[in-house]
Amino acid sequence: MTNPFTIGYASLNDEISVASLPIEGTIPRWLVGTLLRNGPAKFEFEQEELWHWFDGLAMLHRFSFQDGNVSYANKFLQSDANKTSKEEGRITFPVFASDPCKALFKHSVTEMMLNPNVSIQKVSGDFLALTEIPLPMAFDPHTLDTLGVVEYKDHLTGQHSSAHPLYDFASKTMISYMTEFGLESTFKVFGIKSGEHQRTLIGSYPVAEPSYIHSFSITERYVVIAEYPYRVVPAKLLTGGKSFIQNFEWRPQDPTLFIVMSKQDGSIIGRYESEAFFSFHHINAFERAGEIIVDLSAYPDTKVIDESNLPNLRKGRNDGKDPYTAPSEYRRYHLPLHGSSSTVTYELMSEYEIELPTINYPRSNAHDYGVAYGISLARNAPVLLAHQLVRVDVHERTSNFWSAEGCNPGEPIFVQAPDARAEDDGVVLSVVLNANKGNSFLLVLDAHTFEELGRAEVPHHIPLGIHGMYFPEV
Ligand code: CO
Repeated sequence: MTNPFTIGYASLNDEISVASLPIEGTIPRWLVGTLLRNGPAKFEFEQEELWHWFDGLAMLHRFSFQDGNVSYANKFLQSDANKTSKEEGRITFPVFASDPCKALFKHSVTEMMLNPNVSIQKVSGDFLALTEIPLPMAFDPHTLDTLGVVEYKDHLTGQHSSAHPLYDFASKTMISYMTEFGLESTFKVFGIKSGEHQRTLIGSYPVAEPSYIHSFSITERYVVIAEYPYRVVPAKLLTGGKSFIQNFEWRPQDPTLFIVMSKQDGSIIGRYESEAFFSFHHINAFERAGEIIVDLSAYPDTKVIDESNLPNLRKGRNDGKDPYTAPSEYRRYHLPLHGSSSTVTYELMSEYEIELPTINYPRSNAHDYGVAYGISLARNAPVLLAHQLVRVDVHERTSNFWSAEGCNPGEPIFVQAPDARAEDDGVVLSVVLNANKGNSFLLVLDAHTFEELGRAEVPHHIPLGIHGMYFPEV
């Protein structure tokens, strides 16, 4: 058995294409389409190494399903960052958390070399690899060839955005946000109408010291932003020479703020305070009986960012005073739509950790929902690597799991069956690292029972990735 902590974060240099992967069990014949995934896959160059997992060179992976067969291909995103860092043997692009030689704020975003290694989205017909720099890179979903940077025909400016835009099915608009850092910083929420290649401002507000925000949520009428007390220190920005995240400071004595903006006219209809917490991923939000419900995966602090450095992850456990990174809790915050209370509290929705959460997005995004999926750790597990998938019944508040000896699953993706009635009629897909065999496989679970239906074996290991998306049309 290989060590999962070593191979999960080991570079993958091979680019392959396989017409039909060996299958164990059965892949449903109705599953026709493509799972596209993104993630960091190369961490060292001849003269320099990346320090942080989030900074590895972007690699795309494609799993296509037809007639119970699964084909697979993988390719590095052919960015200038990829080309120059390999040619020059050093880090040539701005980094999120590794020690930088190029700082985000020293260059205008259009001059920068991009390494969009976080997520995949389809926006106005373009398949995009995204990071948090607001310049997505388009690629061909069949060949995985890189097509180039998408520049929008508008005048919206900002240096930091989200790799998790949300599609508002009612208005056929992709909604996201950008922060423009400056002497007076501004947080901007914008929309891209389906079919258009320009961003339209929905609303904006000034922020003295912007917070690091990774995702957000929408409801029928509102955009919900959580501002964590993980804020830019302006003096650090001025001195430069830091990675992006080194410009931020965790202030546990300050509250986390929820800001609710009208999608209609951009007005702020509510501001709420809670105890300090940090989150990468909102799970969902919706309006119900005079309140907004916001569900997210919450950490008590930002230690998870520091601890996700490669030397630490490859050891498999952290060296700090605490035995492990505090788990990310499945929390439900209640924001009253009327009334005077601006201090909000939460309920714990599951006693188990949840990260990389997903729902039946087309059906449940911005609406009340019954099931969420994620990666998870057993309570108090002394490791940093998720070893099970969790399915949470949101109404019953019960959880069930999939796990297998020596296996570490990645982000679960829900795919709805063609004749679906219930919210969870369908399958859950996950790329699983198998340390027993030193490779990865694509796992297919029944989304309702959480039982394994089948798996397709990939010839090599796939470094633990971040996000992906399923496209029935590809
Ligand atoms: Co994310």
